[in-house]
Amino acid sequence: MNMKRISMAVCLFVAACGGEDGDSAAPPIAYEDMSFEQRVVFMNDVVMPEMKKVFVAFDPKFETMDCTTCHGNGAIDGTYTMPSPQIEALPATEEAFLEYVKDPEKARWSQFMFDEVMTRMADLLEVAKFDHETAPNGFSCSNCHTHTVEEGPSEAP
Ligand code: HEC
Ligand code: HEC
Repeated sequence: MNMKRISMAVCLFVAACGGEDGDSAAPPIAYEDMSFEQRVVFMNDVVMPEMKKVFVAFDPKFETMDCTTCHGNGAIDGTYTMPSPQIEALPATEEAFLEYVKDPEKARWSQFMFDEVMTRMADLLEVAKFDHETAPNGFSCSNCHTHTVEEGPSEAP
């Protein structure tokens, strides 16, 4: 439900929160001002090659990464709607997320996502990265991931 709090939870979980910004190859027009067609070109020319480098450095299996890796079916039907239901849904609450990252693999991925993917993508789009204090509505996990629907509490209080 509250994705911003997920980023906050990652922030608590990851040792160092923050990181450097700003060495991106800025496009001549800001992403937010681009038409849909310009966004397609920008994704092809800038986002895809840059993000592929980031993902491949984490895991060589991303050599074969393409638009569907992030956009799922949206890259097939041409809508490119985000977030993508084909990327694993993340837990919806901070509590559930902290439980989720007890799995070392989920923790490893989440740390990579937080440190590299979220930061690099926000830079490329020239939007603020989620920050609990300065950019509570900034770019976060929930721009790409959906969230699992919360089931009722398993233990009644
Ligand atoms: C690393 C993940 C990633 C990859 C790879 C990627 N995109 Fe995107 N794309 C995004 C994100 C994130 C957004 C912006 C969502 C938002 O506004 O929050 C986006 C937005 C878009 C949009 C704009 C959608 C709209 O509603 O205006 C288009 C079009 C698009 N991408 C096309 C592509 C194409 C074509 C490719 C392959 C060449 C591609 N994308 C590869 C992550 C990705
Ligand atoms: C720019 C888009 C984008 C952003 C932002 C993003 N992710 Fe991801 N994430 C992906 C993609 C794409 C994959 C799937 C890669 C694949 O196909 O294996 C993924 C995979 C994961 C996985 C592995 C899931 C599994 O299959 O085990 C985890 C965990 C994860 N992300 C957590 C996060 C967290 C936590 C955040 C925020 C701190 C975040 N992601 C931000 C795009 C994104």
